[in-house]
Amino acid sequence: MPRLTVIGTGYLGATHAICMAVLGYEVLGVDVDAAKVERLASGEVPFFEPGLPELLVKALESGRLRFTTSFAEAGEFGDVHFVCVGTPQRPGSYAADMRYVDAAVADLAPHLHRRALVVGKSTVPIGTAARLTELVRRLAPAGDEVELAWNPEFLREGYAVDDTMKPDRLVFGVASPWAQQRLRAAYAPVLAQGTPAVVTDLATAELVKVAANAFLATKISYINAMAEVCEGTGADVHDLAQALAYDNRIGGRFLKPGLGFGGGCLPKDIRAFLHRAEELGVGQAVAFLREVDDINKRRRARTVDLVRELVGGDLSGVRVAALGAAFKPNSDDVRDAPALDVASTLQQAGATVRVFDPAAMDNARRTHPELSYGQSTMEVARDADVVVLLTEWAEFREIDPVALAGMVAHARIVDGRHALDAARWRAAGWEYRALGRP
Ligand code: UDX
Repeated sequence: MPRLTVIGTGYLGATHAICMAVLGYEVLGVDVDAAKVERLASGEVPFFEPGLPELLVKALESGRLRFTTSFAEAGEFGDVHFVCVGTPQRPGSYAADMRYVDAAVADLAPHLHRRALVVGKSTVPIGTAARLTELVRRLAPAGDEVELAWNPEFLREGYAVDDTMKPDRLVFGVASPWAQQRLRAAYAPVLAQGTPAVVTDLATAELVKVAANAFLATKISYINAMAEVCEGTGADVHDLAQALAYDNRIGGRFLKPGLGFGGGCLPKDIRAFLHRAEELGVGQAVAFLREVDDINKRRRARTVDLVRELVGGDLSGVRVAALGAAFKPNSDDVRDAPALDVASTLQQAGATVRVFDPAAMDNARRTHPELSYGQSTMEVARDADVVVLLTEWAEFREIDPVALAGMVAHARIVDGRHALDAARWRAAGWEYRALGRP
């Protein structure tokens, strides 16, 4: 079994390092952030992910997982080095910010004294692997002995462990049979479960990831565009989506209408794809992604409008209970969270917004200190003029509408995620509104 290093211990890297150690590999996690390394080494996962804390403890106890800030140690230790650092949107641009990927490779390469494979997992602009191949060969003492491969990662937050242990597929972008053989060795237990591996060149492997995310974003914006059509015609997007989903060529996944997509991946990935395609002279081919992004942003604005309509046209002084802050349930991630965007816009329009989320409160307080926060649904709902459901956590789906009606000043609710049974809420005396529903 090759010895693995995982460079970058954020969401993707920490999950990958922990799961690989559980699968039986010797793994060294590397990060420039000493505090993060210390927390992981002491058994603490620095973010919310169901199932991962237990696996971290198990991996540490096995003695197969360690963490370090030293790239020299990583170069000495590893046969296969996974690069798992972030590629956020560059401020003021649609482009991906490549500084962390470039730095990770530049920090590691001078310590590669023997044959090794450097494997990119981050989501990157097409052409990055070719560029990094040059960089590695220039900086590594082992020169041409060091190869680069691309192995995109498709994990979803909230399902990161399962997506890593039992992925739908593995994609191996390689430049030689040796690189393919090394990747197969680095994933032997996963391949042994029958997981299909698609072997491609480097550019195709980079493209698979952005093409997949662009497709998913397009599917969500498609149904949300239909919601807009429904709003203009009196049709019901909830029933429409259900009827479309029975066509198994379409399928119901990622066809859930509502407030739209957010998070650290889909929004910035489609923008970076647009930017890179334009640079490559094929911008027209993906110009529709600008529309996908715009449809998605309009859902946030429309949710604010629904709240305004429901309270009679003026938001000033209105007390809003906002249920949800995370960009989706089972996550504490608030990056580009539609929920906080809506809450913040309502507040700017004069409303007093109190937010509750089961997991994302600390992150929300940090990014949105202008909002106020409460410790429970009942606390934020007390004396509210309107309730807005923004993230479809299970505990919000299970709210008893009769009990909640007893807490609020006015029983009015906007269901931004189509998460509630409209008939049940109306029967309990609520004025219920949802995007794309009459
Ligand atoms: C996504 C991809 O799914 C994953 O493969 C990739 O590796 C990273 O980006 P993630 O960001 O964790 O994963 O979230 P995902 O579950 O895909 O949801 C993205 C957003 O779309 C969320 O804001 C969610 O609320 C929204 N969504 C999803 C919808 O609005 N409707 C749907 O039907 C599905």
